[in-house]
Amino acid sequence: SDTGFVEIFEVGPRDGLQNEARLIPAVDKIALIDLLSTSGLRRIEATSFVSPKWVPQMADAAEVMAGITRRPGVAYAVLTPNMRGYTAARAAGADEVAIFAAATEGFSRANLNASTQEVLARLAPVATAALGDGLRLRGYVSVVTDCPFDGRTPPASVARAVAALLALGCHEVSLGETLGRGTPEAVDAMLEAVLNEAPPQVLAGHFHDTGGRALDNVDVALARGIRVFDSAVGGLGGCPYAPGAAGNLATERLATHLAASGWATGLDQDIIARAATMAQTLRAPAA
Ligand code: HMG
Ligand code: MG
Repeated sequence: SDTGFVEIFEVGPRDGLQNEARLIPAVDKIALIDLLSTSGLRRIEATSFVSPKWVPQMADAAEVMAGITRRPGVAYAVLTPNMRGYTAARAAGADEVAIFAAATEGFSRANLNASTQEVLARLAPVATAALGDGLRLRGYVSVVTDCPFDGRTPPASVARAVAALLALGCHEVSLGETLGRGTPEAVDAMLEAVLNEAPPQVLAGHFHDTGGRALDNVDVALARGIRVFDSAVGGLGGCPYAPGAAGNLATERLATHLAASGWATGLDQDIIARAATMAQTLRAPAA
């Protein structure tokens, strides 16, 4: 059966690789992005322009952006936490910038060294600049069901953060289940609150797979009308400021799961499989 189109937003080169302890050479990151860009993906989050003191793995962001081969039809997105990051992202030719906030105070402090209110104030000029420069603006809300510091996240807090990011002009807000601990029931309750603030067309699901429930959570979000999902090829990832968060949902698993349910993704599964192997080699290079 043909149920429709679901977009997969690839975050492996950023959300995946940022968590690796070994500093991966820029040339290897570039090769991964270039391979991914031939797979049918429309958007790839290539890197982040964050403080290298906080995430040393992403210190080569400008080099990576300069080294990739831009493929027509593929938008290269980058994560930016502040104006300094935005300025560098723009200079590097990013097509889309992503700004990020947390649904809890504990995670905001750990990931961004500021309260949620301070983070939103810091992001407002980034949003204004990005929209003024004609770039697409994506938002993320982290820890949408569970926080490593504050426990269970109230759905109303997520809804508030989503509304704030949409008010800044984001075309889409990605709901980050950062810890990979959320049950389908918790995800559904969170979505019910968020959908009071925003239609499913402006939302994306971002499920880490630590607890093995990511695909179940995708199904819950599909049933709620969400049609964009973030994943990382090879199941790379986690979050350096979320202790215990293992891999992102693997792109190859997501694509297979969606295809089995009749969804079109436009991805070439053979290329995705090759990219998954490449990603795993970056994580554990042959001796
Ligand atoms: P801070 O230490 O409070 O602020 O960090 P600062 O302004 O004092 O900056 C510290 C140093 O970094 C300074 O250098 C700045 O110049 C420099 P120094 O003067 O000490 O030499 N700096 C920068 N360098 C390069 N690019 C920049 C930049 N900004 C400052 N953009 C800050 C505050 C926001 C900068 C920091 O907390 C930060 O970079 N945080 C980012 C953490 C991060 O990237 N986390 C992972 C991504 S989020 C995630 O994975 C979740 C997600 O996947 C969804 C989900 O799963 O939930 C999106
Ligand atoms: Mg993530």
